[in-house]
Amino acid sequence: MTGAQPSDAPRRGCFITFEGPDGGGKTTQIARLAARLEARGIPVVTTREPGGSPGADAIRQIVLSGAAEGLGVETEALLFAAARYDHVRTVILPALQKGAVVLCDRFLDSTRAYQGSVPGLDRAFLEELEAATTVDARPDLTIILDLPTDISLRRLAERRKSDAADRFEKDGIELHQARRQTFLDIAAREPNRCAVIEATGPLDEVSDRIERVVIDRCGDVLSRLARSRAGATA
Ligand code: TYD
Repeated sequence: MTGAQPSDAPRRGCFITFEGPDGGGKTTQIARLAARLEARGIPVVTTREPGGSPGADAIRQIVLSGAAEGLGVETEALLFAAARYDHVRTVILPALQKGAVVLCDRFLDSTRAYQGSVPGLDRAFLEELEAATTVDARPDLTIILDLPTDISLRRLAERRKSDAADRFEKDGIELHQARRQTFLDIAAREPNRCAVIEATGPLDEVSDRIERVVIDRCGDVLSRLARSRAGATA
């Protein structure tokens, strides 16, 4: 038996992922961008990884609790990939086919940065997993919210006053630095897909920077989506 399969309908929407080190404010900025796009009449679906679908949310509990840590980084990478496979098929592709803008909090670059920064991991293994899970769902735009590691760690410590650190937040400063550098390297290698945005500074300024990049890179698609929704509701 196979799981839910997406239809072959064309992808009319726009897929935007948010990436970067912990504490960059992705969740807040995604909510703000969603509100701005919806105010322009554009249909938006917000989602996140690991998780985003019932199947993937079950796997989220396993990876973030640290229950799979002892099984090794390859097994953790397989779990993230399994979650992504379900999320892509049951949530992301159907929303893109319906003509929504999908805003996703973390996606394939988090696997490259978090699992890929672990010394000794076989890169080819990660590349195969990435191809198997995301071939139909490559992001149109990836916003990398960048911030210095000391600020990232300070923000995490602040957050820890009210909730416990997850398995990845507990890692040492070297891994946090390596992850940040991996995100920056990805952006340098794929400038057409990625945009690095400085995540420090007033929230409104960061939101404005994000909106400018989104309009600049995806403006044509967004206008079409707003027009087609207006047409459908006229
Ligand atoms: P989450 O609580 O969603 O944190 P954040 O607000 O930082 O996004 O936790 C997600 C954690 O999982 C985060 O530390 C990054 C990690 N992660 C991976 O290691 N690999 C992945 O492929 C993904 C999607 C996330």
